[in-house]
Amino acid sequence: MPDVKQQLTAARCRDDFPILNRHVHGKPLVYLDNAASSQMPLQVMEAYRDYHSRYHANVHRGVHQLSQQATDAMEAGRESLRRLINAADAKEVIFTSGTTDAINLVMQSWGRTQVAPGDEIILSTMEHHSNIVPWRMLCDEKKAVLKVIPVTDDGELDLEAYESLLSPRTRLVSIVHVSNTLGTVNPVKQITRMAHARGVPVLVDGAQAVSHMPVDVQDLGCDFYAASGHKMFGPTGIGLLYGKKEHLEKMPPWRGGGDMILSVSFDEILYNELPYKFEAGTPHIAGAIGMGKAAEYLMTLGYEEIQKQEKDLLDYATQQLTAVDGVRIIGTAREKSAVVSFVVDGIHPHDIGTILDFEGVAVRTGHHCTQPLMERYGLTATTRASMAVYNRREEIDLLVHALREAIKVFR
Ligand code: ALA
Repeated sequence: MPDVKQQLTAARCRDDFPILNRHVHGKPLVYLDNAASSQMPLQVMEAYRDYHSRYHANVHRGVHQLSQQATDAMEAGRESLRRLINAADAKEVIFTSGTTDAINLVMQSWGRTQVAPGDEIILSTMEHHSNIVPWRMLCDEKKAVLKVIPVTDDGELDLEAYESLLSPRTRLVSIVHVSNTLGTVNPVKQITRMAHARGVPVLVDGAQAVSHMPVDVQDLGCDFYAASGHKMFGPTGIGLLYGKKEHLEKMPPWRGGGDMILSVSFDEILYNELPYKFEAGTPHIAGAIGMGKAAEYLMTLGYEEIQKQEKDLLDYATQQLTAVDGVRIIGTAREKSAVVSFVVDGIHPHDIGTILDFEGVAVRTGHHCTQPLMERYGLTATTRASMAVYNRREEIDLLVHALREAIKVFR
């Protein structure tokens, strides 16, 4: 079984992603939709295949060898993820089906027990729907209030406004680390410090962060951190919730079933210890193994390599797209991840996306599950190119070439 290469570099890593060699509509694929889902390297596929072909069994249940091997591999995956985000203890890393599920876990377990009528939850205008809808649901149920940090024209959070929103009624701040639409990297450490000064816990939606920048939950100080496997070179259907033990221990389980219990009678249930208390039912074992392998891949490649390559791509894409007549970039924050959202005068993003697809270029068009943010900028949709470490400048050239073709067609 090939292991993660010791000499992995940004320059070489593209070879690990076989899908990048395919053609679409007869043109070489240019995959610039990494914020929606990143591609998977051979090392992760192999770990996935290895589980299914050599030791597929259920975990935490059997004394037989296959079950023990599966349990060990899944727990090794948890440990790799612990190291990736520098959690103090693997018990603080709970497998979920993704970021959405992780946020819903906090809402259902922590939120429903901690939030009372008149309490306030602070979000920001640039949240993904997955960090809005659960809290809107909770506020409707509890008659609590959502407060929203505004964003500036450049796409940065207004921290003075945030400061003024923090009140004695604030129960939680739930904030995105990196905006999927704007690419803005938010100062989540500072945001956490400001909330903690008032005794308010902080949840960080890290879906767009973990494959692009080092994340150290202890240094950030946040209380919860959510991430998805398929946005960090891992499989779909798996993600994680990091939570500080002091919170997780007090939180009631959300889902009931096998594996999350120590003993069951019709009168009384004794719950399992962390992290299993929150992992009812047979987990996505292959997903957990694959996500762990993806974490190893990222750590072996190293964030220095990743950030150097992605910064170059961001700068180049920004410069090339700005030079196209009629293009306006949405999101020009000082700290940005490699995401470029843009609009073109007089042409709908869906039309642009369709033409780009015929040229082999995959981008996302639409509201990117951030409708309140779109409204903030008076838009209904943008075209978004989102890069990963395996992308190349030549692909940005192909994007810009295809965009110029699209503009010719529609003008
Ligand atoms: N949240 C994903 C995106 O931004 C789906 O495209």
